[in-house]
Amino acid sequence: MSDSIENILLEKAVKAMENAYVPYSHFPVGAALVTDTGEIYTGCNIESASYGATNCAERTAIFKAVSEGHRRIRKIAVVSDKIDAFPCGICRQVMAEFADGLEIIIGRPGDYRIYTLDELLPHSFTVADLEEARKK
Ligand code: THU
Repeated sequence: MSDSIENILLEKAVKAMENAYVPYSHFPVGAALVTDTGEIYTGCNIESASYGATNCAERTAIFKAVSEGHRRIRKIAVVSDKIDAFPCGICRQVMAEFADGLEIIIGRPGDYRIYTLDELLPHSFTVADLEEARKK
């Protein structure tokens, strides 16, 4: 029986979480996304002694995809080891930049919930706002 794309992404996110570099928070996160053309990219959080330089798992995966030429993201799974990890505000904004009917899958393989970006980031600021202002 073939697994659902949601479970495949969650499993890949769990695997990616193994590489989380979290000496300060001890809060590992993994992410896995699928692009509009079906490519899968994964990411983990990477912390820094200069805490503000930390990169979340979601942005690691998104930046990997975009840097390889993939700008439309359909689904992204996010996992942590002890609790459900919801994307932070910065990651939600970065998701809005590259979202293509984006579904955000939170939980673990076989036990997850799917959210739309609009649910997690209502009234988001996008390029449409910049264009509207430019016309005035
Ligand atoms: N973190 C993520 O990677 N993604 C989330 O969804 C929430 C927070 C990371 C950032 C930092 O390394 C650690 O979790 C604690 O904030």
